[in-house]
Amino acid sequence: MDIKKTVNLSWDAFDELRSPRPETNDFDKVVERAISRRGFLGGALAIGSGAAVFGSSLFPAAARAQTGAFAFTPIDIGTGFDIGLPEGYQWKPLVRWGDALWSEALDSYSPETGVPVAMSDKVFGENTDGMELFEVDGHVLLAINSEYVNPGINLPEASEGVPASAEEVTLLKNLQGVTVVEIADSGNGFEVVVDSPYNRRITHETPMTMDGPVAGSELVRTNADPDGMSPVGTMNNCGSGLTLWGTYLTCEENFNGYFGATGDYTETEGFARYGIAAEGRYAYETFDARFDLSKEPFEPNRHGWVTEIDPADPESMPVKHSALGRFKHENAAMVQAADGRVVVYMGDDERGEFMYRYVSNGIYSEGGATDGLLSDGTLYVARFNDDMTGEWLALTPETTGMDMAEMLVFARIAGSKVGATSMDRPEWIAAHPNKAEAYCALTNNSRRGGEDMPVNAANPRPANDFGQIVRWRPEGGDHGADAFDWDLYVMAGNPEVFDDAMAGSENVTPGNMFNSPDGMIFSTDGMLWIQTDGDDSNEGDFAGQGNNQMLVGNPETGEIARFLTAPNGAEVTGLTWSPDRKVAFVGIQHPGGQWPDGAGKPRSSVIAVWRDDGATIG
Ligand code: FEO
Ligand code: CA
Ligand code: CA
Repeated sequence: MDIKKTVNLSWDAFDELRSPRPETNDFDKVVERAISRRGFLGGALAIGSGAAVFGSSLFPAAARAQTGAFAFTPIDIGTGFDIGLPEGYQWKPLVRWGDALWSEALDSYSPETGVPVAMSDKVFGENTDGMELFEVDGHVLLAINSEYVNPGINLPEASEGVPASAEEVTLLKNLQGVTVVEIADSGNGFEVVVDSPYNRRITHETPMTMDGPVAGSELVRTNADPDGMSPVGTMNNCGSGLTLWGTYLTCEENFNGYFGATGDYTETEGFARYGIAAEGRYAYETFDARFDLSKEPFEPNRHGWVTEIDPADPESMPVKHSALGRFKHENAAMVQAADGRVVVYMGDDERGEFMYRYVSNGIYSEGGATDGLLSDGTLYVARFNDDMTGEWLALTPETTGMDMAEMLVFARIAGSKVGATSMDRPEWIAAHPNKAEAYCALTNNSRRGGEDMPVNAANPRPANDFGQIVRWRPEGGDHGADAFDWDLYVMAGNPEVFDDAMAGSENVTPGNMFNSPDGMIFSTDGMLWIQTDGDDSNEGDFAGQGNNQMLVGNPETGEIARFLTAPNGAEVTGLTWSPDRKVAFVGIQHPGGQWPDGAGKPRSSVIAVWRDDGATIG
């Protein structure tokens, strides 16, 4: 693989290169399974607008029509390089890639050359993703992930997207990770507080610690850390999570792509399952032995975790929680079991991988001790049965035949051993704020339907380019229960182009259609905000779907309405609200054109959105 040809690929396209889609699909199976499926509420999920509509609909009110039940007028698709919002709403960039967090970096960003390396850990990073808001002693803080960098945007043109020196590697390392930034209410969508003592950058080089069963294990020992207790850096920080005790969870996703080999190394089953190979994406291994598999074969085991950060204490050391398992973590949705134990739902975003649940042994009570709650517990994987029941299967040494450390480091292999259901790329999981129900965005899966990845009831469409959202209700309304019922909240699709399962479920209409649901966050009023990261060509199978977007779903009626459209090229990812809920903060990642400045390079940004009339927005 030529690194100069892969550097500008999306992470999904990179996965596809490593593991190509099969040539055969099995369409008959999906129809058969869809027909036989009973609905969550006693009816059946209706798929398509033609012959594939079965039984009574789960969403009788929705039936391919908008009823106008939302607090805004749904908008049309976007196709240009701007933000689209309903009438009566305003937006502005809150913080852009390269914006200074400390005054020494003010004006260091150049529209022509980007961020200078000397200031690269003093500015907001690139490619914003998950974020959460915190109130600390009267200060309003945002913790925001910077998932990855576009080398072609950050490096000098002569480098052709591949670092040519250790200094260029440092530039890329510093522009990823996590930012904690104080913001203040300016009466106009908030402003960054430059030089706030709470401002903080956490990068690929920040010292960390690890807890749980893997801490100290030989699987995470390196030359620089023979005790295996002090991993360095958090990387590919995708979605986020909020603990019940007010700290931030950052989720390490495509960590595999940062490693490569300059010499011989052993290609293990673990490397293969996690997509780790000789060719890294950023040439880190050329300039930093830590990322060289031929010198540090255990370094990759120190990444791919959920990492906890305390935004209230800029001196605090981030903690990698090994009890939550190592995989390509999307986000972490924390809720509480009926008996007070802590439950964390997590997706592993790769085609055919699994959904996970962690349950603590200890219980949490407000203001009580939190020690051990994320280091002492049990990890489970989900099985979705075709009869619309499901269960969480415990990963233990007994069920997997692996020792604890091995089982958590190679959670994917452990999940396969117990019979987890292979999913269509689990992205964000969102737990309903007012009842025991949770949702996972299954974004798409080009490989579904091949011999190694047959369709199943929760992932019923081969070559699934549109994605679906699965939801489940735990038995007895208790997130600690091992059994659940499930259904599909929506199957995305294109009813303009298709009249079969690819048209989507009945709550998908020509007026709200989308592909590739990804970010999902509930507002306090129980509405599900859905962000997309898909094909924005507006052509072929995706004609009429426009740019990526953010929609609002009503979980009770199934209705979905388009609220925001992103600039072409961008995905929408990350959402939180100001304390008074009058301002929403929305992440716009990898925009195209020259958004938002209208000149120079495109700049990934968090935007602020508010209403002209000052009302709350969710
Ligand atoms: Fe970083 Fe799966 O999205
Ligand atoms: Ca995502
Ligand atoms: Ca995605």
